[in-house]
Parts: sequence; structure tokens; C-alpha cells
Amino acid sequence: MNRRDVLRVGLFGGLGGLGVAPPEDLSRDRWRFDPGICVSDASRPALAEVADAKAPEVSGSAGLTRYVDPLPIPPVLRRTDAKSAILELRMEVFRHQAHRDLAPVEMWGYGAMWPGPTLEVRRGEPLLVNWVNALPMRHLLPVDRTIHGAEKPYPEVRTVVHVHGAQVLPGSDGYPDAWISAQGETGAYYQEGPSVYPNDQAATMLWYHDHAVGATRLNIYAGLAGLYLIRDAKEEALNLPSGRFEVPLLIQDRMFSADGSLLYPRAKGGTHPEWIQEFFGDVICVNGKVMPYLKVEPRRYRFRLVNGCNSRFLQMKLVATDGQGGPSGTSSDVPGVFQIGTDAGLLPAPVRLPYLILSPGERADIVLDFSGYAGQAMAWKNDAPAPYPRGGEVVPEDVILFSVSLPLSGKDTSSLPEHLLPYTGLNPLEAVRERVLALTETERQKDGYTEIGLLGQQHWSDPVSEDPKAGSMEIWSFANATEDAHPVHIHLVRFQVINRQPFDVATYKRTGRLILTGRPLPPEGNERPAWKDTVKTYPGYVTRVIQRFDLPQGTHSSPGEQFLYVWHCHMLEHEDNEMMRPYWVIG
Ligand code: C2O
Ligand code: CU
Ligand code: CU
Repeated sequence: MNRRDVLRVGLFGGLGGLGVAPPEDLSRDRWRFDPGICVSDASRPALAEVADAKAPEVSGSAGLTRYVDPLPIPPVLRRTDAKSAILELRMEVFRHQAHRDLAPVEMWGYGAMWPGPTLEVRRGEPLLVNWVNALPMRHLLPVDRTIHGAEKPYPEVRTVVHVHGAQVLPGSDGYPDAWISAQGETGAYYQEGPSVYPNDQAATMLWYHDHAVGATRLNIYAGLAGLYLIRDAKEEALNLPSGRFEVPLLIQDRMFSADGSLLYPRAKGGTHPEWIQEFFGDVICVNGKVMPYLKVEPRRYRFRLVNGCNSRFLQMKLVATDGQGGPSGTSSDVPGVFQIGTDAGLLPAPVRLPYLILSPGERADIVLDFSGYAGQAMAWKNDAPAPYPRGGEVVPEDVILFSVSLPLSGKDTSSLPEHLLPYTGLNPLEAVRERVLALTETERQKDGYTEIGLLGQQHWSDPVSEDPKAGSMEIWSFANATEDAHPVHIHLVRFQVINRQPFDVATYKRTGRLILTGRPLPPEGNERPAWKDTVKTYPGYVTRVIQRFDLPQGTHSSPGEQFLYVWHCHMLEHEDNEMMRPYWVIG
């Protein structure tokens, strides 16, 4: 490839207050960095060798002081010309300081940063990306060679990028077996050449992250995640808060050991030597910082949230605090939380939320109006039990503090319109079929320890069983017979939640018969109506979604042609270990 067509994104380092040193061919390129965001290679710190694998698993993050680091905003990469340039983004080792009192730790990042740069595109303008694996041969975290696709002799470090929520052809979708190693070894479905993102879809926030079979939990945990914004004219016409008043929040829990390294615990008495069922960290990071704060002006802001945790659900409430995040002595009043969009686009109208529940993979587009709150502080606090909703594991409470301490820089001319986007509901009567797909898990005989979960009673390697016709509409009904909620994500499509209905789990597990035991519950306030790509399936309920399996616009297919995608639980430990299934869209 022509070097001139490429911007090597060799950024690195902590995200706050980075200086600029553009690569020398930047001016000739069609990609442009927002100013003030990248630093030169010359200041790159030397990296230590791979951390000692036997470092004790003692958390050094549990006692960290909250709200001492400012919220970093990932740099934005956007295209200024619609034709021909290919973006190159490298996955690299770098050092990252996640908190004032933590030493910089070794992490992996797109563009050598965590989160990776935000890719911003306009609807209808395709984006081509060369994702380059420039990572070491040894993993930063405990690999489990007994997990499907991670067996020997596959390389320990394998990556493939998926843009979550993007409508793309299979070759660009980050199929789990389409991985490549830094040495150029490839999985069975690897496709040469750049990934193509047509961006032929409504404005929303997607996110890109690793999707390698049997390694996704570790690769994302190591830092391989970033945001992807699609803009369009309809969204712009709404005059929502924008520019520095639109703030992305990638929320991910982590644990750091006393020596500062990123801590991902190993199994103790589990079903696999290393693999744990769920990771739950003792601190919450936002845009790569532990419990950051953000100084805001007394005006309207738009926040783009994604739950990028491995397995943690978030249930967040905005509460009034003092400047340090403690209980506020006087006022308990906070701005109303208005949700204006979800995973796959804007809502028809803002929905006021008493609290916000986000499962891994889900997004929320929120407007907060801080006017009238000058001099006050408020924080988003999480109280979702982990695992959700059963509980039992650590629940870090503090997410982010907003201090309304900046003077108003100018009149707030943005708006929060009463009506956002017209919405067309998909009619369940037009669905050609309903597929009942069970979520199940088993218990180990000797001690009742929960063993792996399955989707549709099948393993990852079983033949494809879901094969909707291109353009057809289907209802998928997820019958969750486990004790936990699981976020189910379907690639390619956007769907609508129809309802949730309780069923008799014991009978189902004994006989496979689905007996409904109560009336269907309508979708939750922020799902009704809404476009989604990830849905919370609650234990003991059938969760029904409806979608049309449209291939990306302009796809030429021959009759019977198979387009391969996946659907899976978005708890990363689960999807890495059997809670993922391939599916075909048939042309
Ligand atoms: Cu966000 Cu298949 O994943
Ligand atoms: Cu996805
Ligand atoms: Cu799950």
C-alpha cells in the first residue's frame, strides 16, 4: 500500500493534555487529527519486559482516592475527504497511567492508547481501515489454552477488530476466527486487505473492540477498545449540545495489583485452569482513568455512554455530592437525566430516567442540563449487583464526578427537543418466524459450581442453526434459564425489543418445553420504542426481539449464498467460552 495513503496512528501515552507532533506525511493525508492530541515517538518511554506472570494477585486499586484525575477525552480521527484514503491503526504496547497514585502500567491499545482514538464518520461515507497487530508474542494476561480457539498451537496473541453495531459484510465484521498474529499467522476466516465500513446507517455511537476467538476478554481488558461515532444531517438538525459539550464516556471496570500492573485474576477451583466465569474489577475507569472528574459549565451537555466492562452491569444514578464526591450537606437536587438515544440511534423523544441500567455492550445517549447548578457537584454512582442481578461480588460505586465549576463561556444555544426522530415499529405479524433460543448453564456435580453457559444448547463449533433469509424479518426469543442476566448481541442487525415474559425454568430444563407463566412485560422505558443491538435478557424470562436481516446496502448476492455473522452474550468471559454462535444470512 502507498505510504501516502496511510496515516500511521502511532500515538501513545496518557490521554490527558497530550502535545502534538503529527507524522511528517500528515499534511498530505486525508485524515486529520483534532489538534492537541498526539505526541511524538521520541517521548515514548522504554517498556519493561512482559510483567512477571507470577505477580501476587493483590489489588492495589481498591483504596484509590476518587475523583483526583480529570476525565480524558480520546482524540478524534475524522475523514475530511470521502474518497480513497485508508486509515491505518496499529495495536501496540504502551504505558498508561490510570490514576494519579498508580504507576504507569503496560497496556495494549489501538494507536497505543486506551481507549483508542475515536473514529468519527458521516453517514454514507465509507471508511477503510487497516488494522495492524503489532503486539508482542506473549500475552499480558493469563491465557487459557483449554478455551475454544485458544488451544496450542494457535498463537497466544491473536486479534481481530469488530465495530460493534456496524452494518458490514462478513469479511469486515471481525469474525472471531478471522484473527491475525503479529507474526502474520491467521485464523481460518482471515481476509486480507482493509476492513470496509460503509457507514450506511443512522447516526449513533458504535464502539470498536477486539473479537478474537477465546481471547476477547483478555484483549479488551488489556485496552483494545475505542469509540466510533456516526453523524448525519437528521441528528445535526436537532441542535443537540456538541463540540466540547458532547462528551464520550467509555466505562470499564478494572483491577490493578500493588505493583501497578493490570490485574486479571486466575481461576481458583474453576472449570478451566485460568478462565474465570466473570471478571469484576474493584474500580471503575472512564476513558481509561480510575474514577475521574469532569469540570463542566452551567449549561447543557450531551454524554455518549458505553458499558465496555467485561461482565459488569451498571446501574447508575446521579446524586448530589460535595466537591470530593461525599454526601452533600445541603442540596440533594440534581439535573434530570434525559436519555435521547440508545445502541443504534436516537429515540423518538427524550426519556427521563431515575437511574440508568447498562449491560456490557449497550450504549446510552444522555443529555444533562447543569444550568442552575453552578458551584455544585454531583456524581454518577453505580449500585448494580454483580453478577447481575444475583450479586455476591465486589460492586465499585464511584463512576465519575461532575463539578459545575467552569464559568459559562457563552450563551447555551443548544436544545433538547421534545421530539427527536420519527420511529417506525416493526410489526411482529410480518415476521416470517420466531426462533426460541435458550440460554442455559450446567452445574458441576460435585459442588454445584456453575459450568459454562450455552446458546441454543449448542457449542461454538456446532454447525450453523440460525439462517435467516436476507431481507426477512424474524423474532428471536431468548429464553434465559440461567440465574443471571446476560446481554445478548446480534451482529449486523438493529432490533426492537417486543416484550419479556416469565417461563417455567425447571420444566424447561427437565423437558425442553417452554411453558410461559405470566403476562408479557412491555419493554423498559428506554427500550420503548428504540433501536438496539444488545439486549438484557433476564433470568427466568423470554426476551423477544424483532429484526430484519438486511445485508449492507448494495450487497450483491447469489441465491443461497451464506453471509456469516455471530450472535453472542456480551459478557466477555461468556462469549470467549461457548456463549457465542455463528449464524448465516442467506442471500
Ligand atoms: Cu461488541 Cu460481537 O461484539
Ligand atoms: Cu457487535
Ligand atoms: Cu452471559
